[in-house]
Amino acid sequence: MHAPTRSAIIEMEGIGKVFRTGAIESHVLTDIHLAVGAGEFIAIGGPSGCGKTTLLSLMGLLDIPTRGSFRLLGEALDGLGRAARARVRNRHIGFVFQAFNLIDDLSVADNVALPLSFRKDIAWRERTRLVATALASVGMAHRTRHFPPQLSGGQQQRVAVARALVGNPPILLADEPTGNLDLRNGEIVMGLLAEQHAAGRTVCMVTHDDRFASMAERTIRLLDGRIVDECTFRQMRDESESGLGTFRAGEVLW
Ligand SMILES: Nc1ncnc2c1ncn2[C@@H]1O[C@H](COP(=O)(O)OP(=O)(O)OP(=O)(O)O)[C@@H](O)[C@H]1O
Ligand SMILES: [Mg+2]
Repeated sequence: MHAPTRSAIIEMEGIGKVFRTGAIESHVLTDIHLAVGAGEFIAIGGPSGCGKTTLLSLMGLLDIPTRGSFRLLGEALDGLGRAARARVRNRHIGFVFQAFNLIDDLSVADNVALPLSFRKDIAWRERTRLVATALASVGMAHRTRHFPPQLSGGQQQRVAVARALVGNPPILLADEPTGNLDLRNGEIVMGLLAEQHAAGRTVCMVTHDDRFASMAERTIRLLDGRIVDECTFRQMRDESESGLGTFRAGEVLW
């Protein structure tokens, strides 16, 4: 299912994720088979609570699956310890979050430099150059010495994109990157992601917004923790909207 034609950079087979809270078990992801091709741009959509952020966290090695196997750049990662996972993540993955997640007490330049602080292979002078290049690539070179609270939301997200790119990771993961932005700023941030895709990076983006999802090459639909095809997805959504569906009561759809 969902096999791309290019060589896969992310490969998930039979991935499941169960959260245990006291005596309650939540099966948040079930039997996920997903291969993302190197250089591909995918969007991940689906109703609130269906497991999109959980899936992105597994892709980004922020969390570990309960079952199934996961390969990144052809390497099996099952059973890798915390420190090793962090190293792989730091080298290969850049994150952009809905809420920007910048550190208010650090300057723009220091925020962008953060992922490099774990890279012993990059000298100080080179770090300064990489930070300047990353900020220039998102049009924020003029705000290097500012602090995040002094920037607009759109500017903060552009800085967050620079932070994601600074270590030159091959994979960019974005969780609702336009969710806190107005349409104009959302378009600017989407333009940056599209540029990164055009430059050869693999981009996986969670979005509720079909306008932005359509900029991706492929959309994965999640429903209740499972990948479903577009046809099933639309059918379930239409049934849900007419009150007949199986979405949980009170769920926010779009
Ligand atoms: N650490 C956790 N412990 C327990 N349950 C969790 C945890 N993280 C997520 N969940 C549950 O997993 C389900 C999926 O959450 P997730 O954040 O992946 O959804 P989502 O599709 O990203 O939703 P949204 O569109 O609202 O961001 C939710 O029911 C949530 O309560
Ligand atoms: Mg989410």
